[in-house]
Amino acid sequence: MSQKEVKIEWPNGNCSLVPSGSDWIDVAASAGFNIPTGCLGGSCGACEIDVNGSVIRACISTVESNTTGRIIVKSFVDPYW
Ligand code: FES
Repeated sequence: MSQKEVKIEWPNGNCSLVPSGSDWIDVAASAGFNIPTGCLGGSCGACEIDVNGSVIRACISTVESNTTGRIIVKSFVDPYW
């Protein structure tokens, strides 16, 4: 499987061009966007972000290529945090 470059637009206005399969936490840090973390194991939900309208847990997810090659990230605010 070949890696595809994906353009990511961050809530802070920065953009990144990263290979699909990259870790969300790492690419966010490189873009100057801090994703809050807690357990780093997928159970607490502190790292949830909105990726093209779907909520993902960044600590256990990688950047997937999509048909447009463009991903828009929004901060996800959990009312319980
Ligand atoms: S840091 Fe807890 S689910 Fe990601």
